[in-house]
Order: sequence, then structure tokens, then C-alpha cells
Amino acid sequence: MLVTAFCSLIALACGLQTEDRSSRLLNAAALRVANVPSSAAKRRSSVRGAAKDHLRRSFRPGHVNYRIQKELKDFLTTPPDHCEIAVGSNIRVWIITLTGVEGTLYEGEKYRLKIVFPPEYPLKPPIIYFLQPTPRHPHVYSNGDICLNLLGTDWKPTLTVASVALSILSMLSSAKEKKLPLDNASHADLKAGGQQHNWMYHDDKC
Ligand SMILES: *[C@@H]1O[C@H](CO)[C@@H](O)[C@H](O)[C@H]1NC(C)=O
Repeated sequence: MLVTAFCSLIALACGLQTEDRSSRLLNAAALRVANVPSSAAKRRSSVRGAAKDHLRRSFRPGHVNYRIQKELKDFLTTPPDHCEIAVGSNIRVWIITLTGVEGTLYEGEKYRLKIVFPPEYPLKPPIIYFLQPTPRHPHVYSNGDICLNLLGTDWKPTLTVASVALSILSMLSSAKEKKLPLDNASHADLKAGGQQHNWMYHDDKC
């Protein structure tokens, strides 16, 4: 949806006409954002539109997407500061763009978190890691994995992705030096996003 909504903006700009119903719908979606000035703003707006499409479906309590939809709704209604969300056609995969906070080492820099909800969510934590390019930080491996207890042993179903994203942002904000984890070399060849249930967290030193 993210991709198709964006493509429809291009089709509209070129005046292409297509007959089938889905492209008419997509053009209608593009028209809704046609008065937004810059193309970057258009793209952001259509991304939000795609995320909002997920809110129109009604899941019953207990449905595997019910809780995620609620979190998405809360995120869109009250976006945490310095966080922007994009959701494609799968409600269970989010991208959150963090913007480094003023007065910190990462001020104005943008980093993308990938969020994948496992089938057992929220009993199991969400899988969250940085996409490339990753921030250089003592708790962020160069493959994107984040050493954060909330993503493993200290996850609780009462936490949300928004609250974890803010914890990650504050983890960036409190850095005194941009450097890699000491054990980067022994971890960073792994594929990012593995479960952290057996990780060791050495307070702030891992
Ligand atoms: C971190 O470790 C990985 C895996 O050994 C390595 O490929 C990568 O270059 C390291 N990153 C840096 C910036 O040293």
C-alpha cells in the first residue's frame, strides 16, 4: 500500500488514466493529498493515509491484530515526539523514523527502526532493530540490533512500541560518545532481529 499509494501520485502527476477500480481508488487517495506543497510532504501524507487504512478494519478483541491496531491508532493520534511512523500493507510491520533530539550527539539525524510483531505479541516482545545506516552508539551493533533490556528479559505486555521507541530515543540522547559496542565484532555478523530472550544485559555497559 505504501508503494502503490506513492506510485499513484506519479500516475496522477503524469495525467495517466487507468480504468480499473483499484487505480481510481488510489487516484482518489492521491487527490486527497494533492494540495500539500512539497513532494516529500505528499509522500509523508500518503504514508499516513496507508497507516490509517489499517484503522478502518474492525478486529474483534482477541484477534491477533486487535492490540496492534489499537497501538497504531494511539500512535497516529498522539505521535511520540521525534517519531514518525510508516506502515505498509502488513499491519504487523512498522517503520519508525527517529529524529535525534536537539542538544544531543544525534541532533537532527534520522534513523529508521524496523518493528516486526511476532505471532505471540504482546506476550513476546516486538522485534525492533535499526535499518542501515545505523546510529553509532555503544548499544547499537552495526547490524542494527539494539542491546536493550526492554526488548528481551524486561519486556512486559503493558509496554507498547511507542514507549519502547521513546526509550530507544532516550538511549540515543544520553550517549556521551558515538562509538560501537565493545563486542560488535562478535555479534554484528548475525542477521538483525533475533530474539533477545537469552541475552545478557550488563546494565549500561553491554
Ligand atoms: C562490527 O562488526 C562487524 C562484524 O564483525 C563488522 O563487519 C563491522 O565492520 C564492524 N563495524 C565497525 C564499524 O567496526
